[in-house]
Amino acid sequence: MDTISIIGYGKMAKAIACGLNGRFRLEIIGRDREKIEHFIQENSLLNTTSINIKSTIDIKDKIIILAIKPYALEYFKYENQSKVVFNIMAGVSIDKLRKVLDSRSYCRVMPNVASLVGSGVSVIYSDDIQTKQLAKDIFNVLGSSIFVDKEEHINSAGAISGSGPAYLGLVAEALIDAGVREGLNFDLSVKLVNGLFDGFAKLLQVKAPNEIRYDTTSPGGTTIEGILELENSATRSAFINAVNAAHKKAKTLS
Ligand SMILES: NC(=O)c1ccc[n+]([C@@H]2O[C@H](COP(=O)([O-])OP(=O)(O)OC[C@H]3O[C@@H](n4cnc5c(N)ncnc54)[C@H](OP(=O)(O)O)[C@@H]3O)[C@@H](O)[C@H]2O)c1
Repeated sequence: MDTISIIGYGKMAKAIACGLNGRFRLEIIGRDREKIEHFIQENSLLNTTSINIKSTIDIKDKIIILAIKPYALEYFKYENQSKVVFNIMAGVSIDKLRKVLDSRSYCRVMPNVASLVGSGVSVIYSDDIQTKQLAKDIFNVLGSSIFVDKEEHINSAGAISGSGPAYLGLVAEALIDAGVREGLNFDLSVKLVNGLFDGFAKLLQVKAPNEIRYDTTSPGGTTIEGILELENSATRSAFINAVNAAHKKAKTLS
């Protein structure tokens, strides 16, 4: 059984650690002993050790998952050479990472929060076959993996699937508010929206988005009135611009 060393104990580290729990030995590395211990207990992590580090992390021959904030990268010093580093930090390029940390192999991964429920999508870039296989073994446990053949596509993909849960969260909230405005009680509105997202996700596996839209929009009917309002509010370009803004921000972190 390989040991995976996760640097960080935030939301993404939790999703990853819970998914890998029992399948790999884990090592949780960070700067706050209490938080690490709490993280291990709260998530009932098996076969897991903790390493509390104030400054220098010995990464010799380790398989590392870097799950700290991009601005925290240089908080630590990294000594020796790791076997492979999976970098999930938004925007941080392999070139930038190479200057801070020595590894035999580097891999960019952009997961999303649905990893917490085993339905995440991880976008992965590596130019090494063995690293790709290991990435698949690790990140498939959290949902599905999609490989891209250009590192720059990680930032574009991240602006959709990485940030996407926040955009869809906004849509869900808006629809719940809309239900309340139309006189439904809050709990009923939440149930409707949950059912809507669940069914839509399944439908999207078998139908194209425009097909789903046409199927729902009968001539002279109710839905086309709603669509008109959304088009008048430039909803489509608002989404395109949101993804573009997130992508631009990721590029500034590279
Ligand atoms: N959340 C998402 O949807 C998502 C999706 C894709 C990728 N990512 C990437 O995943 C990484 C972690 O995100 P997250 O959502 O898990 O964040 P989070 O829950 O806020 O956790 C952040 C982690 O970074 C550590 N950290 C923060 N500032 C630090 C500093 N100055 N020095 C050392 N450690 C520091 C925190 O430790 P302390 O508590 O000790 O500060 C914690 O372990 C980010 O790089 C993000 O770009 C996130």
